[in-house]
Amino acid sequence: MSLPTIASTEATTPATRELGIIMNGVSGRMGYRQHLVRSILAIRDQGGFELADGTKVTVTPLLVGRNETKLAELAERHGIEDYTTDLDAALADPRWDIYADFLLTKARAAAIRKAIAAGKTIYTEKPTAESLEESLELARLARDAGVKTGVVHDKLYLPGLQKLKRLVDSGFFGRILSVRGEFGYWVFEGDWQPSQRPSWNYRAEDGGGIIVDMFPHWNYVLEGLFGAVETVYAHASTHIPTRWDENGEPYAATAEDAAYGIFELEGGVVAQINSSWTVRVDRDELVQFHVDGTLGSAVVGLFGAKIQHRNATPKPVWNPDLADDHDYEADWAPVPSNDVFLNGFRQQWEEFLASCVLGTEYEYDLLAGARGMQLAEAGLRSAREGRKIALAPLSLD
Ligand SMILES: NC(=O)c1ccc[n+]([C@@H]2O[C@H](COP(=O)([O-])OP(=O)(O)OC[C@H]3O[C@@H](n4cnc5c(N)ncnc54)[C@H](O)[C@@H]3O)[C@@H](O)[C@H]2O)c1
Repeated sequence: MSLPTIASTEATTPATRELGIIMNGVSGRMGYRQHLVRSILAIRDQGGFELADGTKVTVTPLLVGRNETKLAELAERHGIEDYTTDLDAALADPRWDIYADFLLTKARAAAIRKAIAAGKTIYTEKPTAESLEESLELARLARDAGVKTGVVHDKLYLPGLQKLKRLVDSGFFGRILSVRGEFGYWVFEGDWQPSQRPSWNYRAEDGGGIIVDMFPHWNYVLEGLFGAVETVYAHASTHIPTRWDENGEPYAATAEDAAYGIFELEGGVVAQINSSWTVRVDRDELVQFHVDGTLGSAVVGLFGAKIQHRNATPKPVWNPDLADDHDYEADWAPVPSNDVFLNGFRQQWEEFLASCVLGTEYEYDLLAGARGMQLAEAGLRSAREGRKIALAPLSLD
């Protein structure tokens, strides 16, 4: 089925499609660095990008936020003409084709509802809403309004995970048995050193918690690489009960800061993923996945990837009386890049914008986003009830 394309404006030549993008939440961590600077401005400053048929896609951002002074400063710093604190007026203006949302999670659904009602194409950070019900409601509203949607799936675009996908697709692993993921680092409490994450992340009442933050990512990573998640068991802990906020005031951390999850995937693969803001790193990268298959194994991170084939597998014998001097690290071979990897957020933006112009189906839509929220909600429920939760396939009907 082909979806409506974004019509070219009169001012553009047939070979150029200029897309106006409302960017809401650009003062935030993700909105500013990844979406504005590393994606949209990088595309703008390069003069746009080209589709396979030679069509050039260019972008014009409109900055939206609550603080006019901050927006004016950002606009000035980056040579952006348009900014406003009036979202409704921006949505009513046909000059802007796409509504992009990087707000804190709690504020997202209300803004997306308005943007759908205004007939805008939607591109949003995850999680798409605070509950599965609301995520599905947004996906249905968009479908009924005939509005195209995209949800950030950035981890799939990490160089390490792209190499992993290549390994999976090549059949390197044989039958994949298990996946172990380790994600996390120490997030300072905020008393003697400022915290490096916003305080709302640690308050359940403000949409915080590592399960809602990370399980949507794990859902699309597992689904995209190994198979859909069928069940989840999660143990959640709030290891640090008091933290200090942006003003140096102590507050009660009401959301979990660590989640220990086991996921059963279609086809029988077992994945275990630890997600934690309360661990000190002793790995090569802040996220690492170890995949074992009958024919080979791989360890991948954000960038790096190494493999061990069955023919290079050592034969250790357990003997607690003898110090083991085998260099296990040396049994692994690096996987070459063989490609140039763009910033993952930008790569996904380009794919989404291309899909908007070409009117093709876009896989990572609000229904995919809802599946991420389904896993987060099931993870929270599993932690509350202390049992494994099965996930039913989602549909919009
Ligand atoms: N894809 C990823 O890897 C990734 C990583 C971190 C965060 N995120 C997601 O991105 C979103 C933003 O996270 P962040 O870390 O950038 O947060 P942040 O706190 O740095 O930024 C939040 C933005 O929302 C705005 N905002 C805050 N309260 C608001 C309100 N009541 N109404 C309207 N706007 C409001 C802020 O001004 C700011 O622009 C979250 O949904 C988060 O889950 C995604």
